[in-house]
Amino acid sequence: MLESLRGLGYSTAAAVADIVDNSISAGADEVRIDFKWSSVNSCVLILDNGRGMTDRELEEAMRLGDKNPLSERSPHDLGRFGMGLKTASLSQCRRLTVASVKKGERSCLRWDLDELAADPNSEWLLFEGPAEGSTSHLTELANRSSGTLVIWEMLDRIVTEGYTADDFNDLIDAVESHVAMVFHRLLEGPRPRLRILLNGRPVTPWDPFMSGHPAKPWTSPITNHPTPYGTVTVQCHVLPHRDRLSNAEFENNAGPTGWTAQQGFYVYRNERLLVAGGWLGLGNTRSWNREEAYRLARIRLDIPNTADADWKIDIRKSTARPPVSLRQWLTSLAENTRDRARRVFAYRGAPAAGTGNLPIEQAWRVERLRTGIRYRIDESHPSVAAVMECAGSLQPMLKAMLRVIEETVPVQRIWLDTAESKETPRTGFEGEPNEAVIQVAGVLYRDLVQRKGLSPDDARKSLLRTEPFQKYPSLIAELGRES
Ligand SMILES: Nc1ncnc2c1ncn2[C@@H]1O[C@H](COP(=O)(O)OP(=O)(O)OP(=O)(O)O)[C@@H](O)[C@H]1O
Ligand SMILES: [Mg+2]
Repeated sequence: MLESLRGLGYSTAAAVADIVDNSISAGADEVRIDFKWSSVNSCVLILDNGRGMTDRELEEAMRLGDKNPLSERSPHDLGRFGMGLKTASLSQCRRLTVASVKKGERSCLRWDLDELAADPNSEWLLFEGPAEGSTSHLTELANRSSGTLVIWEMLDRIVTEGYTADDFNDLIDAVESHVAMVFHRLLEGPRPRLRILLNGRPVTPWDPFMSGHPAKPWTSPITNHPTPYGTVTVQCHVLPHRDRLSNAEFENNAGPTGWTAQQGFYVYRNERLLVAGGWLGLGNTRSWNREEAYRLARIRLDIPNTADADWKIDIRKSTARPPVSLRQWLTSLAENTRDRARRVFAYRGAPAAGTGNLPIEQAWRVERLRTGIRYRIDESHPSVAAVMECAGSLQPMLKAMLRVIEETVPVQRIWLDTAESKETPRTGFEGEPNEAVIQVAGVLYRDLVQRKGLSPDDARKSLLRTEPFQKYPSLIAELGRES
């Protein structure tokens, strides 16, 4: 059975997080994780300063299913199944040693899969003390009066044929970014509740919601939803467009699996992250996939540990499914957030409101027909209207030209290019010199003043409500003032 349970599908990072869960539940505020490279003799040590276990408690802890998943847990307990210590550890190693100190009482027990297999009587051999040659690992714990040390040795699932020190270092990086994300709420703040040291270096929290970033376009109020098994809390976030971020910010906030994969719901249980992104199987006619256009949407969702059964929490603490009774509520919250995120993605930042809240004159209209969507040039846009009005006998030709442009909008090209470069193509004079904006705006400005008789001030105001010039208020302010 122990051999079978190795196949539950833990990643190394998720397995480490499961051990850290136990430390947190035991009241630890510091956890030291050490990955020690020594080829096939490499090992992983996880040491906490929690309350520790007595000899008897440790013996219980080493049993599979030592706790009933149906029993009530204290509100801050991160455990549920009485399995994690064993299943997470043995998914990575063949020898698990746990040493603990509680009020000065010391104990140490060990599962060793090779020795179990070799035992002719097939007895459950739980050994006392560390394996021969591993005593030195216990020195860190020796100076403490409470705490627990978990040791993984014989890392057969990690150090496989051809595995090198570089691979091990990459693994350490993966563990770091996972742990920084999973426990970020405990690690952050002026007085963090938890400190994690990975090979001696403090892990810095990774906040998926970019809290406090000045360019964040939208954060919803916090909504509480009472349910029979406790309160579910949600807050929706739309993150800033790439153009509003420095390259470093863009990289750092992508998350361990990248912008597109990290969109969607972040489900926390007792502030520990279970699910990092994805749409939880929600959707309208079909369930939503993680698509580029929605990559700026992230929704924080908190559930209490009394909701475990209803949310179908798994042993690895990496999946959760919303109960049917909440699906509709969550779908509508997600729909709203997705919609906002898509608009920010498409418009490179929040579509700027004009001065005095007047709507912006758009050059393009979206026509929604029953048979599909069509893009039309808006003839009331000042740049179009001006030419129309002066066109005289050229009007039919002008109309024909506009129609040709509308009918040949390179929609597919834009779509493909956006998907490929993960960015919408440049519009709105982006990356163009100021002169280009001034030159085009100047033509319209002169038309407004000379032909339509607007005062210079009104002409400038009008341009500030006209796409794409509303993005350049300081350039517009200079129009007509140069001479
Ligand atoms: N670091 C630790 N400090 C103190 N007690 C611990 C520690 N690790 C484990 N224990 C004890 O051992 C028990 C078994 O741990 P295990 O991770 O196997 O199950 P669990 O945490 O109860 O549930 P889950 O399977 O959901 O993780 C815990 O309930 C706890 O009482
Ligand atoms: Mg546990």
